[in-house]
Amino acid sequence: MQRVVCPGSFDPVTNGHLDIIGRAAGLYDEVVVAVLVNLTKRSLFTVDERLEMLGEVTRGYGNVRCERFHGLLVDFCAANGITAVVKGLRAVSDFEYEMQMAQMNYRLAKVETLFMTTNPLYSFLSSSLVKEIAKYGGDVSGLVPEYVLERLRSRLAEE
Ligand code: PNS
Repeated sequence: MQRVVCPGSFDPVTNGHLDIIGRAAGLYDEVVVAVLVNLTKRSLFTVDERLEMLGEVTRGYGNVRCERFHGLLVDFCAANGITAVVKGLRAVSDFEYEMQMAQMNYRLAKVETLFMTTNPLYSFLSSSLVKEIAKYGGDVSGLVPEYVLERLRSRLAEE
């Protein structure tokens, strides 16, 4: 059983995330999408809301499950029988930080990191840009799943 993790904040999940999750689901037996519980970082959606959206948009995959984690990713991996992390690389600018984390995770617990090149359609995409554009009334349709788009619209209307 090859089980991998796609970790992140997913505030909210974008089509770029979904592309990586879907491709990982085609390669491995099980993909665990792990949402970091980070009490120090301000978020637009609660962890429960993020998990609910992730659950909805990954419903079509029989081998994807969504969980929360706090603390070290390598500890989550050990507790869940996960030997590798799958990450998307958008651009060279992602590389330095991602490589540092990958090497540290390997040094800490021999957890491997596998990088997938992002679909060029989404190489400019990030959750923070989506939130900023949506906040100022810009069009983010096509960048996030329809379900998330609705949730974004109603959350921003509340503010
Ligand atoms: O979507 P993000 O915020 O870029 O995801 C970053 C994440 C959650 C993958 C990274 O911050 C992480 O793994 N955090 C858990 C804490 C940890 O293990 N830190 C040491 C990394 S070497």
